[in-house]
Amino acid sequence: MGEPICIKDFEEFAYKTLPRNALDYYRSGAGQQETLANNKRAYSNYRIRPRCLRNVAETDISVTVQGEHVSMPVGISPTAMQRMAHPDGECANAKAAQDMGTIFILSTISTSSIEEVAEAAPRGIKWFQLYIYRDREVTRQLVSRAEHAGFRALVLTVDAPFFGLRLADIRNKFVLPPHLKLANFQGTKSTDINKSKAGSSLNDYVNSLFDQTIEWKDIAWLKSITKLPIILKGILNFEDAIMAADAGVSGIIVSNHGGRQVDTWPASIEALPEIVKAVGDRVEVYVDGGVTQGTDVFKALALGAKMVFMGRPALWGLTYAGEAGVKKILNIMKREFESTLAISGCARISDITPSMVVHKSYYAK
Ligand code: FNR
Repeated sequence: MGEPICIKDFEEFAYKTLPRNALDYYRSGAGQQETLANNKRAYSNYRIRPRCLRNVAETDISVTVQGEHVSMPVGISPTAMQRMAHPDGECANAKAAQDMGTIFILSTISTSSIEEVAEAAPRGIKWFQLYIYRDREVTRQLVSRAEHAGFRALVLTVDAPFFGLRLADIRNKFVLPPHLKLANFQGTKSTDINKSKAGSSLNDYVNSLFDQTIEWKDIAWLKSITKLPIILKGILNFEDAIMAADAGVSGIIVSNHGGRQVDTWPASIEALPEIVKAVGDRVEVYVDGGVTQGTDVFKALALGAKMVFMGRPALWGLTYAGEAGVKKILNIMKREFESTLAISGCARISDITPSMVVHKSYYAK
């Protein structure tokens, strides 16, 4: 294969290169993987209605997110255990995002610690993705470590009280390779993920340590222990979006966890419009799931997202060449988005209007 020039090329490289245990863990969705496929397919159901003759000589794709200047509306979603893709794992991913001037979200169950990532990418905009552990002291410590390390927001994942049933992981009896650790929990009982006798050891870990009792009132608890803005990740309907806004959160990531939780949940781009309509300007709305092209970014922004995030594409970039691979991925997305924007008649993001993206049924009339 020659030099990869689109996200699909990186995916193909990773499929040929990664060991089975890691590849299946990264690529899988829940059940028969309809939601996983639909996350991508649903983008094709929308068409871009271009405009012309609008002076696009100079383009600006920067955005303001949570009050901060971000160079492009594409950031990195939290994905667990990135050192299976490359020895520098999360540190390399965070550095690439820093170099590109965009946001990196670190998973709670990472193979590089909060402090290692902060040291690797001290100037980058980093958010910390939080799972609430039954042991609230464990949770409290994670929050305080993220604050001290300079993370700028907490991303509370609300779609994963349990982990979904990913058939390949059950078949493979997924384990974290023995040279790797859940780096945020060294020396505590929350580090030990490889205890399972049957099935995926990750599911057993989650079932025994995550707090399945969490409710809306726990957002108030989380707010009471941190000054960081709280962003809820994993909302798929307007009812919950309104409750999130009422609870005083600063942002929502419309997400189905990359199709990994319950099969036949909607594609995230399908769920986005009702959420944007319900919360208006009360909270910033972002989306992830199935974003692999610049045209996807344009569509998500036209449908009301402030920014998009990508999970697996960054893992494929890491697999290809660590930090340099993720930078290539982000540069490809940047170039594709700039091309889509300018050729469709927009010089800047505020020029994208809702009428520029329509469901394909518009043309069937
Ligand atoms: C994830 N995701 C995820 N989400 C989260 O909140 N905490 C986590 O630890 C993880 N871990 C994780 C591992 C892997 C291998 C994948 C693929 C996904 C979900 C992730 O943040 C994001 O929602 C999806 O990856 C977005 O879909 P795409 O971009 O992968 O299609």
